[in-house]
Amino acid sequence: MRGLNNEKYIPALSYDWLTGLYDPVVALTTRESAFKNALANQAGIAAGHRVLDLGCGTATLSILLKQKQPNAVIVGIDGDAKVLKIARKKAHKAGVEITFDEGMSFDLPYEDESFDRVVSSLFFHHLSRENKLETLREVSRVLKPNGEFHVADWGLPASRLMRRTSYLIQFLDGFETTADNFNGLLPKLITDAGFSFVKETNHFNSVFGTIRMHQCRKPEDI
Ligand SMILES: C[S@@+](CC[C@H](N)C(=O)[O-])C[C@H]1O[C@@H](n2cnc3c(N)ncnc32)[C@H](O)[C@@H]1O
Repeated sequence: MRGLNNEKYIPALSYDWLTGLYDPVVALTTRESAFKNALANQAGIAAGHRVLDLGCGTATLSILLKQKQPNAVIVGIDGDAKVLKIARKKAHKAGVEITFDEGMSFDLPYEDESFDRVVSSLFFHHLSRENKLETLREVSRVLKPNGEFHVADWGLPASRLMRRTSYLIQFLDGFETTADNFNGLLPKLITDAGFSFVKETNHFNSVFGTIRMHQCRKPEDI
């Protein structure tokens, strides 16, 4: 699929025609409620915060964030107009107000230092190494000094069994984009992009491998 800027993006379940099945598949296979609640709690969102959900997909996390802190401004961005249609419907049904923007993560349509938090789940494994690095630079640009980045994504498998099952995701989403994740390189890429305090906070074993969560901070003087 081609998104804005004529750059490719990988749809939520790799194939456009599977996007409608994304929510039930993720709910059944990833312990979604447990890890997204943990991520939303970890993000420590306060009243008045501006929060960006990067690669928001169908907005399960964006909605959870707004429900946990109704006085925060939540913005979801995704490259896929079709998935955003589902996101808008879900937010409307949940009775929460969220802004959804169509855009690419490596060219964010936001001002410098305009967010207190950026959160992201099951997203970075969709990006090539180059786009991961460019996206991390963009995350740093849009965060305020001392702003925090909270990320959950496939990481180093916690056991041989997790390594084996993660081949399914690699097969589905592509070996090139997922390799850095399953080789445990995401924290290093985040550090290389200038973040401090890159700390693993939790991990969840699931049907398709180990989801690892990190908390990262943009230094005051970057
Ligand atoms: C696996 S889904 C994750 C969705 C959601 N964050 C979740 O946890 O359920 C990945 C999402 O990233 C989007 N995506 C992939 N590459 C992107 C890019 N470069 N910029 C913006 N969105 C992108 C896809 O359209 C898809 O909705």
